[in-house]
Amino acid sequence: MSLLRQHVTSESLIEHCVATGAIMRAVAPHLNEDPDLFEIIGILHDIDYEIVSGDMERHGIVGAEMLREAGKSKEIADAVMKHNHHLFSGHSTPVDLCLQSADSISGLIIACALVKGGAIEEVTVKTVKKKMKDKGFAAGCDRDRIRSIEPLMDLDLFIQSAIEGVTRIWVRSND
Ligand SMILES: [Fe+2]
Repeated sequence: MSLLRQHVTSESLIEHCVATGAIMRAVAPHLNEDPDLFEIIGILHDIDYEIVSGDMERHGIVGAEMLREAGKSKEIADAVMKHNHHLFSGHSTPVDLCLQSADSISGLIIACALVKGGAIEEVTVKTVKKKMKDKGFAAGCDRDRIRSIEPLMDLDLFIQSAIEGVTRIWVRSND
């Protein structure tokens, strides 16, 4: 988090990164993966976003360089680099697929909670699936990317885990 805050000032971007990390952590056990590693990758995935000013030709590549320079593992740097789906396709590993889905669903879940006046405990799998069908709702959240996880796990279980993940940080941030 301190490394992220050194390079990202937008609170909404930090919230997106924290939520994506929380979803990664919640989903990892279902994929027999390391929750700590998954959360770190989620938190750091957009570390370069302000530095590249949203330039999708450089997004992720610069982030991976920054992370290598900061002494983070190749596993973390590679996942961050490859998450930019404008540059990289054919994601197949659990971490890559999970990051595609978590990155895309985080905004949708936050938007669902905000619609309910911040009452995230009222957000259910049914709510999220309904809003996924409503193309105008949180339109920036790519529905096809959310479904990246489907070869590895049931979409409903993924959404349930993602809600649990965001709920955990939501409660924490309101303590
Ligand atoms: Fe992101």
